[in-house]
Amino acid sequence: MSRSQLYEMTRSLIAHGKAKTMELADRVVSIPASAYTDPEQFEIEKAKIFKRMPLMLAPSCELSKPGDFKAMTVVGVPVLLTRQKDGSVAAFLNMCTHRGNPVAQGSGNASRFVCGYHGWMFKNDGDLLGVASPGDFGAINKAEHCLTKFPVLERAGLIWVILDPHSTLDIKDFLCGYDDLLEHFGFANWTLFDSRQLEGPNWKTAYDGYLDFYHLPVLHANTFGSDFFNRANYFAWGPHQRLSSPSVNAQKTGSTETVDLSKMREEDWPIDALLQGVWTIFPHISIASFYGGGGRGAMISQLFPGNTVGESVTTQFYVMEHAPDTDAVRQGARDQFDFLKIVVRDEDYTTGKRQHEALQSGLMDHVLFGRNEGGGQVFHQWVDRLTQASDDDLPLIFAKQKIAEAAE
Ligand code: FES
Ligand SMILES: [Fe+2]
Repeated sequence: MSRSQLYEMTRSLIAHGKAKTMELADRVVSIPASAYTDPEQFEIEKAKIFKRMPLMLAPSCELSKPGDFKAMTVVGVPVLLTRQKDGSVAAFLNMCTHRGNPVAQGSGNASRFVCGYHGWMFKNDGDLLGVASPGDFGAINKAEHCLTKFPVLERAGLIWVILDPHSTLDIKDFLCGYDDLLEHFGFANWTLFDSRQLEGPNWKTAYDGYLDFYHLPVLHANTFGSDFFNRANYFAWGPHQRLSSPSVNAQKTGSTETVDLSKMREEDWPIDALLQGVWTIFPHISIASFYGGGGRGAMISQLFPGNTVGESVTTQFYVMEHAPDTDAVRQGARDQFDFLKIVVRDEDYTTGKRQHEALQSGLMDHVLFGRNEGGGQVFHQWVDRLTQASDDDLPLIFAKQKIAEAAE
């Protein structure tokens, strides 16, 4: 089913590519400029989007072995991800149930965590194993003092967590079938080459750029080149969107060579061609694949709101289909990953910060998303819809979405 969707999208991209057309949104849409600069709105987005919606917190390959763990802070919430003995992933509030100190820092491999304050010990499945000096401390029921668990789902080689232990939203419903498409990358068997963090502008300003090919030949003239395509067709599964350039051409698997898909039998279309473009996962992930000297790889960009409305932090994960096995391949992957740092840091985010500063003057009422920028229109509609939804509405929105997708 999902494979046939990949073919369907590719046929549409080829047809539009041949006709030199693209799918256009119905109209030009205005967004209030304050949506990017209002500190109150920013707090609402953190509370209603980032603390309620499933977030993709790690690619599976970051926690590949039992015992692997990662501690991170997401919109002020301390989170601990662990790969347990049975291979499943667990997500916890990284706070000792004694007095709240985080039980783990950084990342590594451990089957248990000893809190650095008074020495309580927890298993990596969250169980409280031991209270320090129990005779002195006094009796407590250990089973009632395990680490607090967050809902978690691992699919398509990616790990989603909801930072609300009481959430009734089903992560699978939230994904609207998009995970079945993402499975075709095969990320579950890929390897993490490297990761880094970059500081960016307001999270929505930054995310707009990931949903936008319109800017490519202009803003990225010095890196991608000024004759790069600027059109994208958008395909949506609920709030998740893939954007890809309408074209008959695609990269041949395992090389930088281009092939004309319209001259090939469909069954010979390479998997890279079926997956090309940018795959975004609402509200904060963008996945783009690359083939450089390092072999087949993908950059997974994970974006979080920063401390203020004008700041965000992005982790770039460079994942590879195969771990590099020679210095030359390793260097190729390194060059590719470094190139992407320059593109995003020096071009996208530098521009985003300037744009944000200008918007903060308060002298512009609204910004525009053209008919060729349907992805941004859809993104902002979903932000509005989800910030306004009550906790009880959330599961209903995605249950309804599931029925609508199934009917299509
Ligand atoms: S806060 Fe963890 S042992 Fe006291
Ligand atoms: Fe860009």
